[in-house]
Amino acid sequence: MDKDVIPADTDLLHLSRGITMIGDIAILSLPPGLDAAAEERAGALVARRKNIRTVLTKVTSLEGDRRVARYRILAGSCTVTVHREFGFSYALDVREVFFNPRLASERMRVALQVSAGEEVLVPFAGVGPFVVPVAARGARVVAVEKSPAACRWLSENCRANGVEERVRVHEADAASLIGMYPPSFDRSVIPAPYGMDGMLARVARMVRPGGMIHFYTFKKRHQIADLTRVLDAEGYEVVTVRRCGNVAPCVSRWVFDLQKA
Ligand SMILES: C[S@@+](CC[C@H](N)C(=O)[O-])C[C@H]1O[C@@H](n2cnc3c(N)ncnc32)[C@H](O)[C@@H]1O
Repeated sequence: MDKDVIPADTDLLHLSRGITMIGDIAILSLPPGLDAAAEERAGALVARRKNIRTVLTKVTSLEGDRRVARYRILAGSCTVTVHREFGFSYALDVREVFFNPRLASERMRVALQVSAGEEVLVPFAGVGPFVVPVAARGARVVAVEKSPAACRWLSENCRANGVEERVRVHEADAASLIGMYPPSFDRSVIPAPYGMDGMLARVARMVRPGGMIHFYTFKKRHQIADLTRVLDAEGYEVVTVRRCGNVAPCVSRWVFDLQKA
């Protein structure tokens, strides 16, 4: 794109290829060629839109175990925000922790299946977007998260949403939990990062027979039928398979709702 032919007052949101809003932070995916003009246009955006306080653009994709990108700040300075979703609030610093607002309806779909009194295990808990709504349904939740920063936000978010008495936070590698609990959980939600499908079998050992597992995995569409057969052969009843958004060309996040035999 030739920046010289774009009128200087063109709204940055209209030029962006993608926009992610986390609280009052707008994360823009900018086309090449806009670099020099981006700060000025981002400043204008913040001045015009009361719901945007900070404008960022990613300079890397999600990196490492924490699944956090690096950003360039285009306008504003604060990367801490409070994101609201279905009446719950999540405080977080986008430079420290993963958060994907596009999974809001998926999280609610899972939470609505939970009954009061259930014992639920959530490894890879992040700042709590699965943990808080599940606990708010009256479940007792064990949340496991390796990142100290995510654990701090998770504990704060449990308090802010009034569910801290029903959530136990383990700051730990999810793999280290195996054997710490008997097969007693009624349900587990496993939002595993890319490449950690092996955690399903390990977590499933802590779920009681007949319990439910919501297992997230990154796959191409043509891999789903085979995976369904494998899970079936491993003794799970595959109750639902759903695509929950694209993550790369041809690769999507899928959720398998599994009932343990
Ligand atoms: C894809 S994010 C999902 C976070 C959250 N469930 C959500 O939906 O926003 C994965 C999370 O797992 C954490 N994580 C990565 N490897 C881990 C491990 N081995 N044990 C525990 N947590 C881990 C990361 O720090 C990150 O917060």
